[in-house]
Amino acid sequence: MSWLASWYPWIKALHIISVMAWMAGMLYLPRLFVYHADAEPGSVQSETFKTMERRLLRAIINPAMIASILFGGLLAGIPGLVDWSQAWIWVKLAAVLGLVVAHHFFARWRKEFAEDRNRRPAGFYRKVNEVPTLALIVVVIMVVVKPF
Ligand code: HEM
Repeated sequence: MSWLASWYPWIKALHIISVMAWMAGMLYLPRLFVYHADAEPGSVQSETFKTMERRLLRAIINPAMIASILFGGLLAGIPGLVDWSQAWIWVKLAAVLGLVVAHHFFARWRKEFAEDRNRRPAGFYRKVNEVPTLALIVVVIMVVVKPF
């Protein structure tokens, strides 16, 4: 895997681009759920939200998650780049796992909205919106500051 080291700057740039796209989608989708929860099922507004949510998830959030993990994995594969005896990388990966779990639930809730089966109030999605924000703060501090 030593050939990877010569591509380090490109892989890290592609990693940062893909995590920015993933986070943009993860912060926007629950915001759409907040307004969709108050829209009348079958209304023009509700049908418009369904289209926005489907395209956001399939065209941006899903591919960006795959690219984030792919390029992150390549970075982790560069010999000597990560000191696995340090805690920052494990805390980061735990927060990333939290993002993947949140992604899974966002995809499930999108499907419920698409089938007019949502039963949760807007307030629930307003709280859920904080999960990717908190995970993002933890991830970036861990990987940039490497505090421990
Ligand atoms: C399985 C998923 C991931 C893995 C294996 C991973 C791994 C890595 C590694 C090894 C580095 C290089 C660290 C260095 O240059 O010292 C890195 C950089 C970075 N990662 Fe990730 N990462 C993942 C997901 C994420 C996510 C989800 C985010 C943001 C939400 C993120 C944000 C960043 C940032 C901002 C950098 C650049 C840090 C710098 O320039 O100092 N990563 N990642």
